[in-house]
Amino acid sequence: MAFSWQDAQVREKAFYDRIYRDNQGDIPSYQPFTPRRCVAFAQKTVQRFGYTLDAFGGKVLADIGCGPHGIISGLELFAAEHGAMPQRMYGIDPLMEAYKAYEEYGVLREDDVIQLLAARGEDVPLPDGSCDYVFCTNAVDHVEDPEAVIREARRICKPGGALCLSVHIVHPAWTWSGPLLWLVDRNHPHHFRAGTVLRLLRRYFERVTVCRSVRVVEDHPEFTFASILTAPHRFRAAKRWLSDVVLRSLYVRCET
Ligand SMILES: C[S@@+](CC[C@H](N)C(=O)[O-])C[C@H]1O[C@@H](n2cnc3c(N)ncnc32)[C@H](O)[C@@H]1O
Repeated sequence: MAFSWQDAQVREKAFYDRIYRDNQGDIPSYQPFTPRRCVAFAQKTVQRFGYTLDAFGGKVLADIGCGPHGIISGLELFAAEHGAMPQRMYGIDPLMEAYKAYEEYGVLREDDVIQLLAARGEDVPLPDGSCDYVFCTNAVDHVEDPEAVIREARRICKPGGALCLSVHIVHPAWTWSGPLLWLVDRNHPHHFRAGTVLRLLRRYFERVTVCRSVRVVEDHPEFTFASILTAPHRFRAAKRWLSDVVLRSLYVRCET
């Protein structure tokens, strides 16, 4: 770990406060999520793991490191309109109290289906074998102890259940830069190689399938080289472009 998890979390909260509390996101990717965006995000995410939004009717889901909307908001909004409502969905995040306070946007709300837990993925307050699906998207490189989070995900998975994990990994051509990445990127306490993550997952899950590898620019169309030339914050734009060069998002389905 290049620097402390606590330091990264202070930055993470400042990042989301800028978007949701102060409404000062500087690019469309970093504007508050609307209900429509929540559904689109959930749809894109579950599809990358090989599912459709109607696959979770009656199921129990956990979203570890869900952030201010997670996939659970979009799943619930979709199911309210089209059916296939999950039985229960847990949003789990150590910054949950801050996310709940973004009331104006209200993308994460507790109700009969969604329960929000202010907790760390290393110590999930759910019983063994309680979830059909555990999602952990773009979060395991943010946590203090990634292996403990994967172990917890396995513990709460029902027999026959699955962990769907996405994570930024360093492109093989750039692995030499790994020890230097913390100089430009202090929001992530970890920068993984694909092999490291897959080895960890195979330690706890019987079947580990890489479903997709996605370029950062696919999710953030503003992270291009050209945008550096017009951006008001050029250094920030250059770092964003660099993230597209150096990183890929890996989508991995892990079955018990
Ligand atoms: C980049 S956000 C991802 C949010 C959401 N999953 C998504 O895909 O948009 C990373 C999240 O991981 C959370 N996180 C950091 N440390 C964690 C931990 N130890 N356990 C669980 N979540 C953690 C952060 O608070 C943050 O909300």
